Amino acid sequence: MTFPTAPRYDLYAGIHKALRAFMADTLVAIGRMDEGDAADTGPALAQLRALLGCMRAHLGHENEFIHPLLESVAVGAAARISIEHVEHQREIATLEAQVDAFEAADASARPALALKLYRELALFVGENFSHMQYEEVVHGAQLWAHCSDAQLLDLEHRIVASQTPDEAMLVLRWMLPYMTHAERCALLFGMRAMVPAPVFAAVLELARAHLREGDWIKLDAALSAPSLRAA
Ligand SMILES: [Fe+2]
Repeated sequence: MTFPTAPRYDLYAGIHKALRAFMADTLVAIGRMDEGDAADTGPALAQLRALLGCMRAHLGHENEFIHPLLESVAVGAAARISIEHVEHQREIATLEAQVDAFEAADASARPALALKLYRELALFVGENFSHMQYEEVVHGAQLWAHCSDAQLLDLEHRIVASQTPDEAMLVLRWMLPYMTHAERCALLFGMRAMVPAPVFAAVLELARAHLREGDWIKLDAALSAPSLRAA
């Protein structure tokens, strides 16, 4: 049994699928939030705060790890996206302040604040979708032109190593359900060879909790296949 592989290693594909899913799910959660029901606003706003923290950490990783590599092979290559990251940091802080303002407001002010939050989050999500497209197409091509797959994998391993366990598990929670079966298998076969068994077991529990049933059955079968256990 073999799985198709991309012609080159794509540094952005998995994490950006995770972030697109996390942003989309959170946006619709805020859009349908019942402003007067704490049982509804609590989880929705907690998810939004988690998303904004994840987005801040992600752009920090790109600034710290990817942009220096890009600039070392093509001066100015990271300039446009670096400027956008500054703007995204400002927008993240603004959205966090809006969440605080909603929670501090009395009931009569909450519907208007919730609608304002939803609309500004939608603009942030839309901007990030365009931003990630540029990174994947333009930065991705520059990285492939100047770096080997081994260099790109090493870079990704350094990014992952810089995350706390909670940060890594949050990313996996949104990455595993929303990537293809082949991408999921490639990620988990690699992880199984690198992390302690209890950590891998926790990742599989996360996958079981969030994958669609059919996706989980296919993944479980692939991970159990004798021909791949040594992969
Ligand atoms: Fe970015």
